[in-house]
Amino acid sequence: MSNTSIQANAMNKRDLLQQKRDEAQLGGGQARIDSQHKKGKLTARERLHFLLDEGSFEEIGAFVAHRSKDFGMEKQQFLGDGVVTGYGTIDGRLVYVFSQDFTVFGGSLSETHAEKICKLMDMAMKAGAPLIGLNDSGGARIQEGVVSLGGYADIFYRNTMASGVIPQISAIMGPCAGGAVYSPAITDFIMMVENTSYMFVTGPNVVKTVTHEEVTSEELGGASLHSSKSGVAHFTAANEIDCLNQLRKLLSYIPSNCEERTPNLAYNQSNEIREVLKNIIPENPNQPYDMREVIEQIADEGSFYEVHKNYAENIVVGFARLGGRSIGIVGNQPSQLAGCLDIHASQKGARFVRFCDSFNIPLLVFEDVPGFLPGTDQEWNAIITNGAKLLYAFCEATVPRVTVITRKAYGGAYDVMNSKHIGCDMNFAWPTAEIAVMGAKGAAEIIFKKEIDAAADSAAELAKKEKEYGDIFANPYRAAERGFIDEVIFPEETRLKLIKAFKMLENKVANLPRKKHGNIPL
Ligand code: HXC
Repeated sequence: MSNTSIQANAMNKRDLLQQKRDEAQLGGGQARIDSQHKKGKLTARERLHFLLDEGSFEEIGAFVAHRSKDFGMEKQQFLGDGVVTGYGTIDGRLVYVFSQDFTVFGGSLSETHAEKICKLMDMAMKAGAPLIGLNDSGGARIQEGVVSLGGYADIFYRNTMASGVIPQISAIMGPCAGGAVYSPAITDFIMMVENTSYMFVTGPNVVKTVTHEEVTSEELGGASLHSSKSGVAHFTAANEIDCLNQLRKLLSYIPSNCEERTPNLAYNQSNEIREVLKNIIPENPNQPYDMREVIEQIADEGSFYEVHKNYAENIVVGFARLGGRSIGIVGNQPSQLAGCLDIHASQKGARFVRFCDSFNIPLLVFEDVPGFLPGTDQEWNAIITNGAKLLYAFCEATVPRVTVITRKAYGGAYDVMNSKHIGCDMNFAWPTAEIAVMGAKGAAEIIFKKEIDAAADSAAELAKKEKEYGDIFANPYRAAERGFIDEVIFPEETRLKLIKAFKMLENKVANLPRKKHGNIPL
């Protein structure tokens, strides 16, 4: 072969590669990309551009093609087969990402599409780096039948194996149906985009056929529904860019794997006294206040990032930084249901505690809880089993753990909310703390019933007995005498005390008894 023909041949080979690269960039073609944009959605590749540090993305498997031959599928080939997979960095830290391409068969999952995701998951596990899924998928590729179902199961299995090893985060960025919702459900966090993303096992049409209910996609599985009613989604975002920015923010609180510590920011200690906390607890012990205000005052400024914000609002959970260190916060919320623990609050709290413990994120608890929510609804729907989840989750957690009792710590809820007895390392109480079996009035009505009934003025007698009981128990000092509380502190010094406590606990080592795994009351 002459030099010229060798060069021509080489050029052809180069052209072929370039041509394939260009083709892969186009996914399902320009018309479908335009349609995606018209719906207010970005393409799979555009999402990666906004998610990752500029220029950091490296693609894996851009030329993968499906193997299906039924229904004329062999004539419909799109390079990459509906999912862009690869790795890149977020704030300089390695992450693995898959981004489903709705322009290719609606982002549906074929055998090869699944193989690409599985390969990525295996790599993320080996490298000890987070896995982020940008989901936009109509579920199982209908043309492939059981092969597609097998692909889903391969992913679910890996999701489960990776759980607690590397953080797995799912963004829902389009209509996700069938199998496309179960992988996210096993991951640690789900973030949904408002108005353009949906999650359901069966869509509105199937629902109508089976149950005769008429329901829109938004009502059945929109971001608002899943972030408030079902609790399936932990975060919502106003639009896709907001979603991708929030994913970056979320990762900043989380280590890359279960062997690492949380990323710490440089921090100069100064002005740690928070005078405004002096008057945050109302005079009247039954008057509500917003626990978020307490958290905002104590955490590093602007660092509180709430999880499950609109779901089970009687408990507040989220990430924050304290003296530059990432922590997980769980707080009762007196402004909702008086801060009572109920089924949903217990589930929400338990899941968050377990996530933090899996990834070495220290736990800080703010406690103001009058007890478990009474009633048939709660009892019949298993508040016993569900409340036990939160109890179990705290008992099992080996990360540094600190509690601040701001006001009420009554009954079983006192035990549950990270008490000394179940492994908390440092327990603080404010002077306004009331640590007792129950509120003074309820207690007096039971134990002084005879005296109250016999009294000429029952109301006056009740008030007297209530005060008597309150004087003895409606304070933190009985608990402090026993060492159940390590220190009673002024509210304004809380931040300083907590920064020191967490620093002191930094190298805490605690091990669970050897076992295969525990049996949390699911
Ligand atoms: C193959 C699919 C597909 C699928 C959509 N498409 N879903 N192709 N398999 N599952 C294709 C469409 O044919 C269309 O192709 C393109 O994707 C866009 O779809 P549209 O319907 O035009 O888009 P839209 O109106 O936005 O509706 C999106 C949708 C809807 C809500 C996702 O397509 C839909 O309901 N799809 C089916 C959902 C479903 O039932 N999936 C199977 C679930 S069973 P063209 O060529 O026109 O662009 C399952 C089992 C696993 O997942 C269970 C494991 C536990």
